[in-house]
Amino acid sequence: MPDTPISDLHLELLSALRAVVGERGLLTAPSDTAPYCEDWRRLYQGRTPAVVRPADTAELAAVIRLCAQRGVAMVPQGGNTSMVGGATPSGDGSQVVLSLARLNRVRAVDPVDMTMVVEAGVPWRTAQDAAAAAGCLLPLSISSEGTAQVGGILSANAGGNNTLRYGNARDLVLGLEVVLPDGQVWDGLRALRKDNTGYCLRQLFVGAEGTLGVITAAVLKLAPRPTEVAVALCAVPSAAAASELFRRFQRHDPAAIQAFEYMSGAGMAFVLRHIPGASLPLAEPAAHYALVELATPRAGAQLREALETVLEQAMVDGLLLDAALADSEAQRQAIWKLREEHAEAQKREGASVKNDVSVPVSRVPELIEQATAACEALIPGIRAVPFGHLGDGNIHFNLEQPEGWDAAEFLARDHAIMDTVNAVVQRLGGSFSAEHGVGLLKPYMMPAWRGGAELDTMRRIKAALDPDGLMNPGKVLP
Ligand code: MLT
Ligand code: ZN
Repeated sequence: MPDTPISDLHLELLSALRAVVGERGLLTAPSDTAPYCEDWRRLYQGRTPAVVRPADTAELAAVIRLCAQRGVAMVPQGGNTSMVGGATPSGDGSQVVLSLARLNRVRAVDPVDMTMVVEAGVPWRTAQDAAAAAGCLLPLSISSEGTAQVGGILSANAGGNNTLRYGNARDLVLGLEVVLPDGQVWDGLRALRKDNTGYCLRQLFVGAEGTLGVITAAVLKLAPRPTEVAVALCAVPSAAAASELFRRFQRHDPAAIQAFEYMSGAGMAFVLRHIPGASLPLAEPAAHYALVELATPRAGAQLREALETVLEQAMVDGLLLDAALADSEAQRQAIWKLREEHAEAQKREGASVKNDVSVPVSRVPELIEQATAACEALIPGIRAVPFGHLGDGNIHFNLEQPEGWDAAEFLARDHAIMDTVNAVVQRLGGSFSAEHGVGLLKPYMMPAWRGGAELDTMRRIKAALDPDGLMNPGKVLP
């Protein structure tokens, strides 16, 4: 990688930063900063004069003040798992990366009030484990949870597999600590279930993708930990059948549904091909699959029986071809692995264009059918790989390059492909970004989808909090 040219401004800034965070808190060698300059999907290659790794909120605040005084732009970064380039610096080498990784303390877990206070750099799974150790559940589960960090998950307002039951990241946030673009620290770490005291500032920062300030810690809401879980992988004849199956589980016992995921035959085939240890627990592959998980903290809920009752009737009614029920935690994890490895398997298969879209839950089958047809008409041979969170209406309508195509040639068509999918999504009353955010990839969509008063208000909020545009420039707003 070519060396990043360091300007005099940056040289002076670096020595000021070093005085705050020490040698250990500052990376400047291109070989050290390189991992922070590329996104998980390898869509963006940025450059930076430095990655600053403050040890606590006070250090971060001092760092932000130093950058702000010099008009240097900053890019907050957590686990660097964004699907939309939300944490990648620009290619001109002008932006400093703020890594939250060393703000990694679980400050408190309270199993009586069912809350936890956790710093931004804690990997989500570590936070989940800390909640579990106190007998609680930290809801929200995503494929990247071992790497993704609290601050990034909140900044992106991630969703994941359990949104239908517990909501998105924003629904878990009771309080926040934020460093503002001028270096002020807002301590809003309140653990209150009710607090009507003016504008709800915390929700402004959740989902803002680091464009309004940097989240440094949060008070998160916990849930009772399920004591009984039942999981099935179902082969179904169509996406419509998967959708009807979901409705039947809802009619049976809506409070028990922990996840209801859809997978296409194409996506499953990629997982079986590329992921070591993945195997299909069914007699034969199908064109469509549903993964249903029931869970409850209630004793004696007999979820296994509930699962069997609904599935047996679905089989009689032609909605189900085959099903595998997990008999152990190991089998449960093996079934989830088939779902969780979809993104990784797709990456190994080749270039893909992702559409993280949502529609009203009942319209998911139409989305899958119509977007598949539209993309196949646009690029013959394109491989539609829809999968995701059927139970909340969020489908990852991803497209894999046609076999034999050059990856770059395929990716050059990304806007045409995304626009084709989005036209269907718009007809169905959906959104162009359900849980991945806008990042660097999708600001160009904002005027068409969120223009007028909505985008105008967003711009005014941005101008009020970050008048010099130093916080994660180029992300979210066009
Ligand atoms: C997932 O649910 O696995 C991710 O959000 C996926 C993706 O779009 O690849
Ligand atoms: Zn997802």
